[in-house]
Amino acid sequence: MRSRTSSCADGGIVREDLTGSDLRKVFEQHGFVTGSDCLLPLLRRAIKAAEVSDVTTLIEGETGTGKQVLAQAIHSLDGKRKNNAFVTVHCSTVSESLAESELFGHQRGAFSGAFANRRGLFQAARNGTLFLDDVNDLPLVLQPKLLDVLQRGTVRPVGSDFEVPIDVRIIAAANRPLEPLVKEGRFRQDLYHRLNVVRLELPPLRERPADFASLMLTFACRHAGLYRPILSVDPELLRFLESQPILGNVRELENAVQRMLFLKTEGASLTLEDWTRQVSTEAPGEKIDLMAQTANAVWRTISNGECGYGQALQELEKRVLEAAMSVPGSTRRKVAKQLHISERALYYKMRACGIASRIR
Ligand SMILES: Nc1ncnc2c1ncn2[C@@H]1O[C@H](COP(=O)(O)OP(=O)(O)O)[C@@H](O)[C@H]1O
Ligand SMILES: [Mg+2]
Repeated sequence: MRSRTSSCADGGIVREDLTGSDLRKVFEQHGFVTGSDCLLPLLRRAIKAAEVSDVTTLIEGETGTGKQVLAQAIHSLDGKRKNNAFVTVHCSTVSESLAESELFGHQRGAFSGAFANRRGLFQAARNGTLFLDDVNDLPLVLQPKLLDVLQRGTVRPVGSDFEVPIDVRIIAAANRPLEPLVKEGRFRQDLYHRLNVVRLELPPLRERPADFASLMLTFACRHAGLYRPILSVDPELLRFLESQPILGNVRELENAVQRMLFLKTEGASLTLEDWTRQVSTEAPGEKIDLMAQTANAVWRTISNGECGYGQALQELEKRVLEAAMSVPGSTRRKVAKQLHISERALYYKMRACGIASRIR
């Protein structure tokens, strides 16, 4: 199918009905790789946001799901801004005391230590994109100040009498859904509405299993210096990864691929054996991080009101058991041994979780 194109105000092209695979190619060229059909509606909205106008865009998704990569793709698909700066504000680390000067700049002599004029991040992003990363962590006291700047389209450097107009595209990323935070009074409703013009929800990797193969091949290519070229991902490994309830983070997948390549000695395909080998060399810190992420995800499900505490933990236990049993070649005895419980205990746990035994 040919795509219909039409010109937009700044001379760019609006690609209204690109086929799914063309859309994926466009994003891949701009660094965002996906093999999933379920992301296509999101990519369509993202390309529209990039090309049609300067709408403020909010990207929600767990840490490491690719929010920054997507934001950069939107920036570079924006014909008007792509040659100007993409500036990231790490909202979780802006200090309350220095934030205004960091964001809006200051005039020489505005406070002790201000020896020269400073431009601030908003001005550094002039005619480009300002990426507000982890905006959910922006201190509450700074939220009205940010809103004010966004509403008026000007900044006033600390100590200056003059407003400076700013022309920037704003993309905000949140690693937790903002709406519940608004309800809890931890994020200002007015700022939320100002940011939430176009919302893009990036699902965790475990909800888009079709991305495993394309991402792993991309990372194998990116880190080709660690080993020789990888041509494929073994279907057995893909089936295994798809059965893992906890793998949600693309950054962790990339680290795992690097370890796999580093430890690999033969073959041109990534296999389940490569995966198992790299898991055993994983740094302990990363394992803890995975646990913390799982705990966060469970807590989010409970705090969103999707289920109660007991039900959430039972669901978690069920998924852990299912993951353990899905390892190819599993027997009940092997699984019990790996879980450090008796076969009898495993049997009762499976029954309690409503798991029909698929293994002997
Ligand atoms: N769709 C993707 N295509 C290619 N690389 C990706 C993709 N998503 C994530 N990555 C990789 O994972 C890393 C983490 O992604 P990032 O965008 O920083 O996540 P987030 O901002 O959600 O925490 C990136 O540096 C990139 O290497
Ligand atoms: Mg990030």
